[in-house]
Amino acid sequence: MSVQMREFGRTADGRVVTCYRITNASGAYVEVLDYGCTLHSICVPNRDGTLTDVCLGYDTVAEYEANDGYLGAFIGRHANRIGKGKFTLNGKEYSLAVNNGPNHLHGGMKGFDKVVWATAVASDRLLFSHTSPDGDEGYPGNLLLSLIYSFDDNNNLTLIYDAVCDADTVVNFTNHCYFNLSGQGTGTVTDHLLQVNADFFTENDADCLPTGKVLSVEGTPFDFRTPKAIGRDILLDEINLKNGSGYDHNFVLQGEGMRPVAELTAPKTGISVTTSTTQPGIQIYTANFLTDRKGKGGTAYGFRDAVCLETQHFPDAVHHENFPSAVLKKGEEYHQVTRYTFTLAK
Ligand code: BGC
Repeated sequence: MSVQMREFGRTADGRVVTCYRITNASGAYVEVLDYGCTLHSICVPNRDGTLTDVCLGYDTVAEYEANDGYLGAFIGRHANRIGKGKFTLNGKEYSLAVNNGPNHLHGGMKGFDKVVWATAVASDRLLFSHTSPDGDEGYPGNLLLSLIYSFDDNNNLTLIYDAVCDADTVVNFTNHCYFNLSGQGTGTVTDHLLQVNADFFTENDADCLPTGKVLSVEGTPFDFRTPKAIGRDILLDEINLKNGSGYDHNFVLQGEGMRPVAELTAPKTGISVTTSTTQPGIQIYTANFLTDRKGKGGTAYGFRDAVCLETQHFPDAVHHENFPSAVLKKGEEYHQVTRYTFTLAK
């Protein structure tokens, strides 16, 4: 394993952004920016042995700063939506930045995706740290975060999130990598085979906000318990698909603790990614709101050109007692792990 670093560019306000590349013994590598702890590239071999970049991103800091789709970013304090940007904790109402219709999305106007993180480098891993002050985007408490991103010789990309707060607060962290296992910039992912260990998903309204209902996947387009092409049912005339303009839903993962939860495979390249996590849910988002734009190396990105596998607590958990709680108590240690393992399909 080795880590190389290069200056990637500068933010509009002059902060230097560094790109770190972790390369393993086979030559496969991941690149991560300290801006937003962003997964910038994931280059793994296809079935012919050619390194293929399976993660969408941009060539410049300016494009990441304008990034309306959160490409590759670490998301916090709270992934996905909080209804009306308000919640009550210990009898006190908190108002958050509202940045998605009437709701709060992905940490607000200046979430962790826009922070240049303090970074330390070891031989196979990057350690990122940040202190989010009391009141940041409306959230209570001083929150101390430390993240570890590692890559190993078995093409395991492991993301470890730790945090502690000096007051009761809510947290929900995820990574917003857009995967295209045929290679970034090669068009739609509707041919990708997806399998998700989930018997239930959480219903959304037309603003992609959970209604609180937990629905069975049985007999619905949301049944991915055996591998199915993402595009097979996506155009069906079904209310939940219509509300998300495709898949943009939280799946309730079977089991607890660190376990494999989903597998995605591109028939064209044979590249497969297995997602394992300690988290209770995963947002399967088929880039339904990804507007046309320029991607890395002059490629073009647009509608359904990627899929995000966002491990998480359920969206808007603060408003639904039947969802696992996203409350982090004062002094309690938050710890979640997600691993993306890249292999070749048999
Ligand atoms: C959300 C989508 C949103 C996208 C980009 C996903 O996690 O579920 O509704 O459009 O992020 O912001």
